[in-house]
Order: sequence, then C-alpha cells, then structure tokens
Amino acid sequence: MQPLNVPAVERIVILTGAGVSAESGLATFRDSDGLWEKHDPMQIATPEAFERDPALVYRFYNARRNQLQGVNPNAAHRALAQLQQEFSGDVFLVTQNVDNLHERGGSNQVCHMHGELNSVLCRACHATQRVFEDYDGQSICPRCGASGKLRPDIVWFGEIPYHMEAIGARLSGCDLFIAVGTSGVVYPAAGFVQEALLGGAHTIEINRELSAVTGYFHHQRHGSATVEVVALVAELLAG
Ligand code: APR
Repeated sequence: MQPLNVPAVERIVILTGAGVSAESGLATFRDSDGLWEKHDPMQIATPEAFERDPALVYRFYNARRNQLQGVNPNAAHRALAQLQQEFSGDVFLVTQNVDNLHERGGSNQVCHMHGELNSVLCRACHATQRVFEDYDGQSICPRCGASGKLRPDIVWFGEIPYHMEAIGARLSGCDLFIAVGTSGVVYPAAGFVQEALLGGAHTIEINRELSAVTGYFHHQRHGSATVEVVALVAELLAG
C-alpha cells in the first residue's frame, strides 16, 4: 500500500458511490450482479419512464427502500463517520447513494446529491417528505393534500443533481479528495476529481478495480471499501 505522505491536510472531500454499500448487501448498478444488469435504467430511472409506467417505478423504489431494513452499515461507513467526528480539520461527505447507511453508520453530515429512498417529492407543492411506508399513484401529499403527485425524491438520468453549488465550493477549496466505490461513468460526479485537481488537491481513489477516471488520481488503493477506507481513515487520524 502506498504511504499517504500528503502534506498538511485540513479540508477533505469524500465522494462515495454504490461500492461503499456493496459489502452491506446492497447491489451496485454496473457490477455483474448490478441493478442495471437486471433492469433497463431508461425504463426505471428517467422522468419519461415515470410518465410511461409509474406503477413500475413505484414498485422499484418501494422495493429498494424496504430492502434497507434488512441491511446494516459496514466498517467503511463507520470509519468515515469516525473521520468526520475525530479529524481536526474539515470533512465534507457527498454521496451518490440514495440509501441511509452513512447516517446509520454515524455520519452527522451527508450530502445526498442524487436524492434519498426515504424521501418523496410532491410534484404539486414541490415539498419533500420523509417516507417509510410504500406509496403509489393514489398517495396523498401530507403537505398540500394533492393526490397522485408524489414521486421518488431521486435524481434521475437527465435531471440536475442536488447541492451542486455547495459541492463545487468544497471541491475547489479542498486539500484532499477521496473517491470510494464509484465507477466514474456518471457525470457530474465523475468530474469531481478534475475539479479537485484544479483546486490543487491531492486525490485518492478506493475501488475494488480500475474506474473510468482512475488516471486522474494521484493514488489508487485497490481493494474492498471495508479494508481500504478503514486503513486510510486510521492513517489520516494518526496524522
Ligand atoms: N469495495 C470497493 N469498491 C467496490 C466494491 C467494494 N466492496 N464493490 C464494488 N465496488 C466498485 C466497483 O468496482 C465499481 O467501480 O464500486 C463501483 C460501483 O459502480 P456503479 O455500480 O457504477 O455505481 P456508482 O458509481 O455509484 O453509480 C453512479 O449511476 O446509476 C447511477 O444514480 C446512479 O448514483 C448512481 C450513479
């Protein structure tokens, strides 16, 4: 394993993808047993797909949300939470994941750029609500009372991710950018490493294999998230 030897780190940005939750039993999207191997994303995860077949989309996201009750955060989630609590500088955690395992792993700040399974969005009043029960095309918005206007609060293909301004500010000001368990094929997240590099940051990739953007990272740590994230956090906290 390459020694960290990164000069004074005060501001860290961490980007996570589906790979950080894989060892908790949640499928990733593009691995051999991934969600997009079983479902056509253009039939499930676009506004057009929702218009075309809302029942299919409700079923898909209700099933993924219910699955969360049967899984638990893993050592990588917990280590990142520990880094947030114990690191002397600033740690900003942005995730592409829509699961709640970072929060259940103890993270007190999680920026969900692609939305959350435990949230619904009303297309009438545009309010978002926490949700823990199945919902569908008959469900009532608890805020405005509109019926049949609730949709998954998920950023679908062709939609603009959440919190992009805040994320951009963190990327351009960080000393260290770490990407964990993401394939680097979906933008804008796949471009974060370049934004961090432009700001002069050191960059580290943790992934079981090469990603589409591995070449942009100063350091690659190829291995499972539960091993490599724990080791890197220990090094960062050891200073
Ligand atoms: N440890 C480390 N890395 C892992 C592990 C693991 N245990 N398991 C899988 N990986 C890596 C894979 O090698 C792959 O590079 O995690 C990555 C998962 O890639 P994707 O399935 O493409 O998931 P992600 O990059 O998060 O997808 C980005 O695409 O479908 C959209 O909106 C969705 O947020 C998602 C976005």
